[in-house]
Amino acid sequence: MTEGDAELEARLAEQEVFEPPESFVEQANVSDPGIYEEFEENWPECWEGAADLLDWYEGYDQVLDDSDPPFYEWFTDGKLNASANCLDRHLDERGDEAAIEWVGEPVDEADRTYTYEELHREVNEFAAALRDIGVGEDDVVTLYMPMIPELPVAMLACARIGAPHSVVFAGFSADALATRMNAADSEYLVTCDGYYRRGDPLDHLGKAEEGLSGVEHETTTVVVDRLGPNGDGFGHDLGDKHDYGDLVAAHAGAEVDPVVRDAEDMLFLMYTSGTTGKPKGVKHTTGGYLAWASWTSQSVLDIKPEDTYFCSADIGWITGHSYIVYGPLALGTTTMMYEGTPDHPDRDRLWEIVEEYEATQLYTAPTAIRAFMKWGSEYPDAHDLSSLRLLGTVGEPINPRAWKWYYKHIGGEECPIVDTWWQTETGGMMVTTLPGVGDMKPGSAGPPLPGVDVRIVDTGGDEVEAGRAGYLTVDKPWPGMLRTLYNNDERYIEEYWAEYSDLDSDDPDDWVYFPEDGAKIDEDGYITVLGRVDDVINVSGHRLGTMEIESAIVGVEGVAEAAVVGGHHDIKGEAVYAYVITEEGYEENDELRERIVAGVEDAIGPIARPEQVVFTPDLPKTRSGKIMRRLLENIADGEELGNTSTLRNPEIVEDIQRKAGGD
Ligand code: PRX
Repeated sequence: MTEGDAELEARLAEQEVFEPPESFVEQANVSDPGIYEEFEENWPECWEGAADLLDWYEGYDQVLDDSDPPFYEWFTDGKLNASANCLDRHLDERGDEAAIEWVGEPVDEADRTYTYEELHREVNEFAAALRDIGVGEDDVVTLYMPMIPELPVAMLACARIGAPHSVVFAGFSADALATRMNAADSEYLVTCDGYYRRGDPLDHLGKAEEGLSGVEHETTTVVVDRLGPNGDGFGHDLGDKHDYGDLVAAHAGAEVDPVVRDAEDMLFLMYTSGTTGKPKGVKHTTGGYLAWASWTSQSVLDIKPEDTYFCSADIGWITGHSYIVYGPLALGTTTMMYEGTPDHPDRDRLWEIVEEYEATQLYTAPTAIRAFMKWGSEYPDAHDLSSLRLLGTVGEPINPRAWKWYYKHIGGEECPIVDTWWQTETGGMMVTTLPGVGDMKPGSAGPPLPGVDVRIVDTGGDEVEAGRAGYLTVDKPWPGMLRTLYNNDERYIEEYWAEYSDLDSDDPDDWVYFPEDGAKIDEDGYITVLGRVDDVINVSGHRLGTMEIESAIVGVEGVAEAAVVGGHHDIKGEAVYAYVITEEGYEENDELRERIVAGVEDAIGPIARPEQVVFTPDLPKTRSGKIMRRLLENIADGEELGNTSTLRNPEIVEDIQRKAGGD
């Protein structure tokens, strides 16, 4: 390192506030600091601007109907179609421009570009095909697909005919697929034969079929041929399943009028982990969600139609829904999709893609940034990343060191970074700086977006002083919010509202949304999110319920009881640690350990794989029998133990500690 570099590193390490670069501010979609006051004074009408980003068949009557909290309705009686907003309206001006630039994992395979015209055509053909195989308005269609273009095609085809989609992350297991299809009563599945991971074709249809065998009702399945002859080795026989390519060919040239949907009609369902074993079906609507995804894409990601915008998330999670598909396409920009991992064939794959496509924004997760940092700056340094104008992060807190590394080595100190806090349930971003307006503070997401009313409170609901830890709450509704949990209004209230609301009141001021995150706020109103306060673990920016993992482990033969906690992990943020009591007659050995890991992979997927499985004769429990997870977290983190005096069995803690340490 030269002396100049060392000085630069030292300055960066100390700097706590970064101003947005002048060159960025000059061209930013939003650069007027007055927006905060304006939105506050003009709430909820301030959201008319978000709705104006969309084309409506019929205008709405009311911006917000808050007469029956927490069942808020936005843009009431407005009529629109999400697929028409993402496609049809761009055809005149941008028909020949790229809508999707898709990069497959194999380097020797040709990338695929879909112009708006081409995407529109295939969406229409597949929409016609879906209708033909029986999909009607409001039927839930499950999409179990990796990062291939047919996934957004299928999403938009569903939206076109008013059939809500439920995308299940391709890395989830067969069981997870079955659980979600059963919960949504979904009779249709679109999947594929396989995809590539680190150079090898991976069998996906086998997993989908296994999942289908656990679905309790009749199903109709469509299969995309992703692998061509490379998939022949899996020996799949489509049987009565439909081939995607045949269906689309049979409907060549078809045109399907977009179905006129009410603003409050469901656009999609997305299952996410909660504190019970059962995933929650988060319901998002056509008007409010699409307006939210579009407005935040424009004002936070600074998306313009001529951009080539790159979000490296997977469409199987909410980030990909809002910020690969709906937000960017509604704004008529070019959105990128990459099928593979960032380290295949080498650790510079993302930088190669950014350089080749001259990507203008990069939106990724802190986990990825920590991995890039560990691999070393020689990988990004070998590429010209000067096309980048803005960087973003999402999914978990980012530590200041990783933030600064990202700022320097990827952004060349010329790109603002937006650290965006939000959730599956919020539909889109809630807390982050506006890149053309606010200073950035590494490690802190920033102030709430204009019009978003976030407060940090104590257990009694009173606001905490600056610098103190408290709970993040949202005091006013917002257009992108979930409307309910599918078929379960009661659980919706219980999970998100019960903590801080007056449940008997019909005054919206008495209703407060609780996202189950801890946070603190500083004197400038900047919010640092501290992490979940419920039993949900955040592994690599992905949410996993400890209960879900525990029930998978208890399902393994030989296991009597299990407790799962999240422990610190340098790259993943958090990792899964499992403490297991065996049944009488079973040995605590590697064979059982392997079966436990396999059990978790079968029930959920490799992402939930425990980092460590520790056998123990007992778990630390309070006198009332509750497992003291905090102590297990101390053990996982190798920290000093918290108070053990309230335990029924204090001696067990040191015993577990010894075992976790490898004795
Ligand atoms: O704990 C927060 C964390 O991720 C949770 C939401 O997870 P999920 O619904 O899977 O959505 C992830 C993508 C939006 C939150 O409750 N989280 C998300 N973004 C941040 C974050 N924690 C800290 N900083 C963030 N920027």
